[in-house]
Amino acid sequence: MCGIVGYVGPRLATPLLLEGLKRLEYRGYDSAGIAIMNGNGVETRKAPGKISELEALMTASPVHGTLGIAHTRWATHGAPNFVNAHPQLDCEERIAVVHNGIIENGSALRQALEDLGHTFRSDTDTEVLSHLIEETYDGNLEEAVIEALSKVEGTYGIAVVSTDDPNKIVAARKGSPLLVGLGEGEYFIASDVSAILAHTRQVIYLDDGDLAVLDRDGYRIIDMNASPLTKDVASIDWDLDMIERGGFPHFMLKEIFEQPDTVKNTMRGRLLPETGTAKLGGLNMTSEELLSFDNILITACGTSWHSALIGEFLIEDLARSPVEVEYASEMRYRNPIITEKTLCIVISQSGETADTLAAMREAQRRGARALGIVNVVGSTIARESDGGIYIHAGPEIGVASTKAFSSQVTALALFALKLARLRGLTELEGKHIVEAMQKLPDQIAEILETAPAIEEIAEQFKDVTNFLYLGRGYNFPAALEGALKLKEISYIHAEGYPAAEMKHGPIALIDENMPVVFIAPHDSVFDKIVSNIHEVKARSGCVIALTSRSEPALAGKLDYEIRIPETIDMFTPILASVPLQLLAYYIAVKRGANVDQPRNLAKSVTVE
Ligand code: AGP
Repeated sequence: MCGIVGYVGPRLATPLLLEGLKRLEYRGYDSAGIAIMNGNGVETRKAPGKISELEALMTASPVHGTLGIAHTRWATHGAPNFVNAHPQLDCEERIAVVHNGIIENGSALRQALEDLGHTFRSDTDTEVLSHLIEETYDGNLEEAVIEALSKVEGTYGIAVVSTDDPNKIVAARKGSPLLVGLGEGEYFIASDVSAILAHTRQVIYLDDGDLAVLDRDGYRIIDMNASPLTKDVASIDWDLDMIERGGFPHFMLKEIFEQPDTVKNTMRGRLLPETGTAKLGGLNMTSEELLSFDNILITACGTSWHSALIGEFLIEDLARSPVEVEYASEMRYRNPIITEKTLCIVISQSGETADTLAAMREAQRRGARALGIVNVVGSTIARESDGGIYIHAGPEIGVASTKAFSSQVTALALFALKLARLRGLTELEGKHIVEAMQKLPDQIAEILETAPAIEEIAEQFKDVTNFLYLGRGYNFPAALEGALKLKEISYIHAEGYPAAEMKHGPIALIDENMPVVFIAPHDSVFDKIVSNIHEVKARSGCVIALTSRSEPALAGKLDYEIRIPETIDMFTPILASVPLQLLAYYIAVKRGANVDQPRNLAKSVTVE
């Protein structure tokens, strides 16, 4: 997600905008830019990298004016470089736009605008808006913005300025947060209140479909018919620290609660319900090429390796293609079967993990085609892979990966569905999968409402020293991921295991001091896992079960029960991961651990 800030008033805009951008840096920064009305029209400055790069540029080459907009970018389309940094301009460089969101029909609009003679400079979807407003401008900026946005599909939070209307900022919101700050004779626009809290605590939160028109005399809120709207003015009493975390005590909890939106963003524009398949433009492969591989190898580390395991089950289950999963750190020194007929899927949230990058390079050296499933746009793995799927989960700040996991599995499901429909999965079967997938965001939201009950369960286990997580089938990797979440933030030893494998030794660990989490939704292996629960109870184990319905077979066997919504087997790991993230989070908090920055860990392991 990107950061937007705008100002109009009696003061110089540049220092206020740079200060605001720094407050928004946690939202993601791979480039930043600013547009100022300098008395002769709009003037921009842009720089790749952190806000400090832009700050240095503004010092070296200042721009003076009392109206401006600024942007810190989290790339979704186009690498993080100068030309793709916002603001994006029209042909005549008289209109500047900053944008947070995804324009789904950007390619079609770009083609239509190029056919009208517009010349594009960047790879961004945002630049389409600049040329669209140039096309629709007829003397009134807000009317031009309304007409332009009426042609747009997707999400946006935008701010627009124009040389031809130099005392005005027009902002609009649909799907990406935006608010108006009301100062003393000065007005702000911002992605969130942290950018302007130093100047005002009076804000108006825009809703989807709202526009704000700011000028030196005041502000107006209008709808997409240019009709005036009356909005409540909110008074902010948060401190800055809380605001950057969206009011959550930790980034990890904020990111857990973002998952209804982030899973939706991963799917956005990629599901084809009418034909029961998926479209993935970034694969850079024709269907024939996709069908030409003899084997698929998936490589990753940590949480991403757990996603990889689920990806193996998804692709083999649906597409009937052979898949191997390799720890990246192991693959490099083994001698796996990799040829020019191998498709190597590389999963990495950061796109910078050294082991994963090296493994991908080794696979490519042996002729394999590399597909990156990555969160950070423009990261090394994303740039060096031969194509890929961006998961669009937004910046993941907490060291323990949460929303990236659910979005990685979602992206793998999209890929498996697309391949499967090329390899014989019927349209009806595909539609069934699409239908289940579309329900996931609401189902995750439903699980998040049980957070207080999960926190109460966590209270019972904050002082234990060991934990077991057991699952079968699709939920064996979910058990591994649940265990990793707990151990990496609470420092409790936790182990994930295939439930049936317990009887081959580890069951010796079971006694009244061993809490055992069972992932036990009513799926195709539920009856089998009931037996495993009975085995643990027979040895006085303490059972915490994730279930999807009231189960007579488990009556009297569960010490604690966490309910998750019913879904088809392949999506149970996504739903199961959410309560396990919360359980780990609350236990760690109750142990006083540093949840966002656990000891010994780094967000991206860029060393081998
Ligand atoms: C997950 O919670 C951990 N922080 C860690 O295992 C992480 O998943 C692993 O280092 C891989 O990172 P990547 O996805 O950025 O490559």
